[in-house]
Amino acid sequence: MRIAILSDIHGNLPALTAALADARAQKVDEIIFAGDYIGDFPYPNEVVGLLRDTAHAHIIRGNKEDYLAGLQAQDPAEWTDGQYQGLYWNYRELTEENRRFLISLPRSVSLTFEGVRLLVTHKAADWLGEIRLNLSSLQIAKALSEGLSGEGVKGHVHQVVSSHEELGRLMEGLAYDGVIFGHSHIQWQEVVRGKRLINGGSCGLPLDGQPGAPYTILEIGREGMAVEERRVPYDTPALIRALRDSSLYRQAPVWSEIIVREVEDARNYIIGFFGFAEKYAHRIGDSRRPFSAETWQAAYQCWVGKPDSR
Ligand SMILES: [Fe+2]
Repeated sequence: MRIAILSDIHGNLPALTAALADARAQKVDEIIFAGDYIGDFPYPNEVVGLLRDTAHAHIIRGNKEDYLAGLQAQDPAEWTDGQYQGLYWNYRELTEENRRFLISLPRSVSLTFEGVRLLVTHKAADWLGEIRLNLSSLQIAKALSEGLSGEGVKGHVHQVVSSHEELGRLMEGLAYDGVIFGHSHIQWQEVVRGKRLINGGSCGLPLDGQPGAPYTILEIGREGMAVEERRVPYDTPALIRALRDSSLYRQAPVWSEIIVREVEDARNYIIGFFGFAEKYAHRIGDSRRPFSAETWQAAYQCWVGKPDSR
């Protein structure tokens, strides 16, 4: 039994297409999609269409789908915030049917293959509770800027996970043989006290310093579980051109330009920019949150002029 694990596509159709083609060539039997299908690239309907057309798929929702559900209760006339411009675009762009499909997805599923019990959730925090792994995309971005290489990220993850006492105790009591998740956009897998942890990474927007479209194959056989992390190349310059040409970009230029940087460097910038915008708004005496379009744009102009602040 071979299972492909794809997460965090974020509207990146070329990455999803490349990863699915590779998974088919690798003869996978099932596909797990671990959340966040829309957000940063201009193909939300195409991505959702592909998900819906994929046979043997197990699909859960991520925080991006939660945001859509949150917007549903609001009056679109009030959608004036700068930081959510891209989200508003996604909500309006999605067909009613696709939006309903995403909002109706479960937050987690339990799956059993060949007697192996797996829990699938989008965020590790859903099963970690109060435990912090310190492997967020922001923490990895900091390590990368301090000299850690993309290739070195796996060793860094291993060091953090294998020395984590609380995590070890939690895994011992876990009622599953493995947990599958995404959200941090950092692809990793480890065995802790006999339990398999798999973060499939972000197919559409990896932030672990390595280019391409990551996804993971879990093989379950008589000897137990084996994992292969794969990374499929695709045309990222063409993706960036398409993003800059899109109505998503026109609606959300600041967010989109930061995403372009993230694609180019495979590193988180957006969370760092949020921190910068917070300080900027405080300095100019603007306490409105979420940020207004004007403050969001002005903070970005200031951020671009200060490369040291990244
Ligand atoms: Fe995500």
